Formats: sequence, C-alpha cells, structure tokens
Amino acid sequence: MGKLFQPTQIGDIALKNHIVMAPLTRNRSPGAIPNDLNVEYYRQRATAGLIITEATAITHQGQGYANVPGLYSKEALDGWKRVTDAVHAEGGKIVVQMWHVGRISHTELQPNGGKPVSSTNRIAKAKTYLVNPDGTGAFTDTSEPRALETFEIPGIVEDYRKAARAAIDAGFDGVEIHGANGYLLDQFMRDGVNDRTDEYGGSIENRARFTFQVVEAVTREIGARRTAIRISPVTPSGESYDSNPQALFTHVVEGLAKYDLAYIHIVEGQTGGERDYRQGDNPSFDYKALRAAYEKAGGKAAWMVNNGYNRDMAIEAVESGCADLVAFGKPFISNPDLVERLEKNLALNTPDQSTFYGGNAKGYVDYPTLEKVA
Ligand SMILES: Cc1cc2nc3c(=O)[nH]c(=O)nc-3n(C[C@H](O)[C@H](O)[C@H](O)COP(=O)(O)O)c2cc1C
Repeated sequence: MGKLFQPTQIGDIALKNHIVMAPLTRNRSPGAIPNDLNVEYYRQRATAGLIITEATAITHQGQGYANVPGLYSKEALDGWKRVTDAVHAEGGKIVVQMWHVGRISHTELQPNGGKPVSSTNRIAKAKTYLVNPDGTGAFTDTSEPRALETFEIPGIVEDYRKAARAAIDAGFDGVEIHGANGYLLDQFMRDGVNDRTDEYGGSIENRARFTFQVVEAVTREIGARRTAIRISPVTPSGESYDSNPQALFTHVVEGLAKYDLAYIHIVEGQTGGERDYRQGDNPSFDYKALRAAYEKAGGKAAWMVNNGYNRDMAIEAVESGCADLVAFGKPFISNPDLVERLEKNLALNTPDQSTFYGGNAKGYVDYPTLEKVA
C-alpha cells in the first residue's frame, strides 16, 4: 500500500495516514459555539490522518461571518472539547485553524458594532455572510475597516497566544495559524493591501513582522511541534495582492525555518480555483523553489499541499517526496470516508455547493459512506 496511506509523525502529532481534511467554513455554529451537529460532522471524518477545523475566530473582533465558531468563550471551548473528544475516541487527530479576519467583516459582527480592523483603512471589494432575523443567510459587502494603531498590535498577538492555550486545553492536538486567503495576517503581508508607514509596513521584513510575532508567541505558549501555519502565496481572496509574492513568501518560509513547526500548509494557486493562478504580471509561482528555500534555511517541518488534488496527484506528490501531506477540501465535505474511498480507488460523492455555507444537517452530516451505500 502506498505511502499516502501509511502512518507518519508531524512534530508531536502521530497520524495514521498522510491525508488531511482541509479547513472548511460551514457556518453552522450559532452563537459561535460548536454544537451536536458539529460534533457529529467531525466525528464522521475522523479517519483522516489529520482534521484541520474550519477557521475559528480567536476573539469577537476576529469574527467575519455569521455562525462561525470561536475560541474565546467558555461555551465555545466546552463545545470544542466535545468535538476533540469525539475525534479522539475514533482514533483521529485534530488541530484548530486560528482565525482573525481583519477587514473581511461587517460592523454587525463586531464588538459594539465597531469597524473591523486591518493593516489599512481601505475597504475590500469582498463579501461577508450575515444571517437575517428570519434565519436566512445572505452575502453582504464588507464594512469599511480602520487601520490598527501600532500600539494595538501586541494585544492581538496576545489574543493569538491565549487562543492557542485555550485550544490545547480544549483537547486539540495543535493549532494552525491562518495566514492565508486575504485575512488579517495576509492583509499585513501583502503590499497591495498594507499601506502602513510604521514598522509593520513598507519592506517585506516589516510586512511579515506581525505573522512572525504571532508564530513566536504561539510556539512559546504551546510548543512549536504543535504549531502550524497556512499560507496561500497567490490567492486573490479578499482583494489580496502582492507585487512580488515569490520574494515575500520566500522571506516568510525562511523565517519559519527557525521554528520546529509541525507543518507548513501551502495552498497552491488560487484557493478553490486555478492551480497555476498568477497575480497581475507576476510569473507562475515556483512552489518547488519555495520549499527549497525553506529547507536551505534549515526548515524541517512536514510540507502540506492543497488545492484541487485528486487521488493520483496526491499519491504522486507523496511518493515523489514533493509533499509530506495532502489536504483535501471539497472531497471531504461530501465523503466522510474519503480515506477508504481513496485507498480502494472507489467513486466519490459529489459535493452540493448550495449547502456549503449555513443550513442544517442537509449537506453536512448526511453524505453516505460506502457502508451505507452497500
Ligand atoms: C465551503 C468551503 C469553506 C472553506 N473554508 C475555509 C476555511 O475556513 N479556512 C481556509 O483556510 N480555507 C477554507 N476553504 C478553502 C479550502 O480549505 C481549500 O483550500 C479549497 O477547498 C481547495 O481544496 P480542494 O480543491 O481540495 O477543495 C474553504 C473552501 C470551501 C469550499
């Protein structure tokens, strides 16, 4: 049986295979509290080598969409404890994706109806998701943000540290820092969004500073071997743009190399879209060069890849050593037993896009497993 299906060790976390469930926002946690339905959803998918939870807000200020879970209230942490217990009871492993959306939010979702915060005062031409009083959901324009004052940034670094501690106390095997998809850390890293003149703006070193401070604080709190990060070097989500992503993210991975992280998670291409996506006049992003730079700088973390992978691509990536782990998103939405299906090379259920965001059990915990089909 191929390497993809064999056990492996990443940092402090032992995995039963190299297949990972990618983070998937499902907007089914009213009050930001994981509930019974969420417990069942994750339990069903515990045959993955590793589950990465849906993006989970580290604070109320980090919230950007209706009904996404948080890591900051006792009720939410109790809810997550039930999720982690259920996954562990099935022999699975689970890390939480720690999220601060920055400007991809709405005043309605913010503490006291305040402005969302960012690296900039400029609004993103992007949508967020709100729920109407009658329970129906709607995509809505994001609100105008306010640029964080320099003195406020250490407070947000501290929020990440606290959330990481709370996550470990809630039974998670580790945390994934969300540095991807145009959210707060990405808003600081990219020069198309970051227009600051303080020590967090301008040069690549300055723009990456916030991300490194978060990594430093989290690894100090819970240990690097339980810490991971996701980046998406060319994804334009949330109007994210950089004039030289290869240089920016080379600097980022070189800086990460000094930590003994569990894994580095790379979204190759446009998240959920073209794998060879290019921003503006930039040449194709060279992911091999990115990894080579990381390893040259001494980095040893597992290299996780994602975006549009199928069975053959995943087997090839892991067998060839191009990747250590492959994360699947949409295939895990519709196939709770994805690992078995891949292993036996059987057909996959097709995901129903109309039930991705919000709703109830339909399109969430009712996809059939092979056992049910048989
Ligand atoms: C419904 C849905 C929700 C998603 N939520 C998140 C998220 O919370 N955090 C994140 O980093 N990416 C998120 N993504 C992106 C996925 O993790 C993944 O990168 C993308 O689906 C591409 O992988 P795939 O081709 O295997 O589906 C989401 C994608 C979908 C379809």
